[in-house]
Amino acid sequence: MDFPAEGEYNSSSAEETAHIAENLAARLGPGSIVTLTGRLGAGKTVFAAGFARALGISEQVTSPSYTIISEYEAVSGFTGSIPFYHMDCYRLSGDDDFRLAGGEDLLYGKGICLIEWPERLCLLPETVFAVTIDIMEDSRRKIRYQDRRHV
Ligand SMILES: Nc1ncnc2c1ncn2[C@@H]1O[C@H](COP(=O)(O)OP(=O)(O)OP(=O)(O)O)[C@@H](O)[C@H]1O
Ligand SMILES: [Mg+2]
Repeated sequence: MDFPAEGEYNSSSAEETAHIAENLAARLGPGSIVTLTGRLGAGKTVFAAGFARALGISEQVTSPSYTIISEYEAVSGFTGSIPFYHMDCYRLSGDDDFRLAGGEDLLYGKGICLIEWPERLCLLPETVFAVTIDIMEDSRRKIRYQDRRHV
């Protein structure tokens, strides 16, 4: 099935954001990089938890702010298990910090990387699946995505 290369959703709750993430995860395979942009509290980690659920991860996904990178094992019907890396670059000062945390190598492996605060980094490739979450009034969020994997 063909999906449009970009689109947007309106979410009115954390659960709805997680559900939207689940749907988007279904179109991303091994080696994908997903960037998650949005202010503090926008719902990036909520999105990550929904995304992980779609990958068959039953562990609870929490914010990797202090650890920078959390690794989970994703279960995929076709390829067996692949790693899912949830990265949070909020506390990084730049690319060097990210390299020291071991992040750069993971971008080019067979795992799926989901990156909060990607604007801290310059080293990311162009070919990401970019997601932006904007806070609207109350608990509403506008979630936009742009699939740049084939640029
Ligand atoms: N529509 C919504 N979508 C997502 N989260 C929502 C929504 N409405 C309310 N929330 C609440 O907003 C908070 C989002 O927190 P979350 O940790 O996911 O943000 P974040 O973008 O990861 O922030 P940070 O930059 O600090 O990591 C949660 O407490 C969640 O319950
Ligand atoms: Mg977060």
